[in-house]
Amino acid sequence: MQTKLTNSARTAARFIKSGDIVAFPTETVYGLGANAYDEKAVRKIFKAKGRPGDNPLIVHVAYKRDISVLAAEITPSAKKIIKKFFPGPATVILKKNEIVPDVVTGGLDTIAIRMPASKIAREFIKACGVPIAAPSANSSGSPSPTSFVHVLKDMKGKIPCILTGPDAKYGLESTVIDCTGKHPVILRPGSITLEQLKKLDSQTKYGRTSRKVKSPGQKYRHYKPKANVRLIADFGARIANSKNKKAFIGLSKKLAKGFELVKISRTPEEYAKNLFSFFHKCDEIGIKTIYCEKISEKGIGAAIMNRLKKAASR
Ligand code: TXA
Ligand code: MG
Repeated sequence: MQTKLTNSARTAARFIKSGDIVAFPTETVYGLGANAYDEKAVRKIFKAKGRPGDNPLIVHVAYKRDISVLAAEITPSAKKIIKKFFPGPATVILKKNEIVPDVVTGGLDTIAIRMPASKIAREFIKACGVPIAAPSANSSGSPSPTSFVHVLKDMKGKIPCILTGPDAKYGLESTVIDCTGKHPVILRPGSITLEQLKKLDSQTKYGRTSRKVKSPGQKYRHYKPKANVRLIADFGARIANSKNKKAFIGLSKKLAKGFELVKISRTPEEYAKNLFSFFHKCDEIGIKTIYCEKISEKGIGAAIMNRLKKAASR
């Protein structure tokens, strides 16, 4: 299959209209989209990614009014979050309407909905004229793509079209928030933090996805580059003696000695933005081990540590 690159939202939308799939930029990571109402098209996403069928997709909308078409009920907790954080890097889980095919939600009776802030993402969804079901545009288990070049390397020949645009502003996937109950429950941490959500509802909590798998995606292998990922707080002899090609990413300059490749970020937000892009680069130049600095799980730190722990798990 030929993979066409285009910077025209209209050209990309033509693929969606003819029942095909398209990778497109958003402010979090690149998504791989299909018409959410077209079962056959949605199945192509699972096939291209090698994604397990019980891992549901997020449905992306261009207008807030589309939320009530997809969801059976917009709960008071969802209303507050939508008002404050849509469009943006937040996804709300609500009870779904019949109109949404089961293949989109992995057979669940709930649906994940997000309205991207990215201008080109919204232009694209508008041009498609339908809500767009989309996971991140990477092979299942790999780090998410934060630039179209990452998508091209991973998906060339497997998808017919990539809508090219700017690199992702945040670099981490959206915060997934279960709004079906009285109080919001964070199923996947992201750029919208627990602290921010608590300002809307002080009872907001992290969900224990390990005990009761509410966000199916959380049980699969995730975010792994080819290189081994190790989390470190400081340096021991083990690292200094390692002869393998190694890399470092983190906040502390003083930790970053003796590596083939180093990325120092000034803030946790920058760390989040650089993380997946660094993983992609390390794989490109054959790094064997990536040492990632542990950071405090406050604010965006919770999302960074969530991705790092999964990337480091064996
Ligand atoms: O920023 C993002 O969220 C990106 C961009 C493209 O929008 N998308 C993304 O999609 O990260 P994906 O498929 O890689 O991750 C979606 C997560 C998964 O962990 C999935 O299990 C969860 O959302 N999810 C989707 N629908 C759900 C539902 N009905 N109930 C619980 N979790 C759900
Ligand atoms: Mg993903």
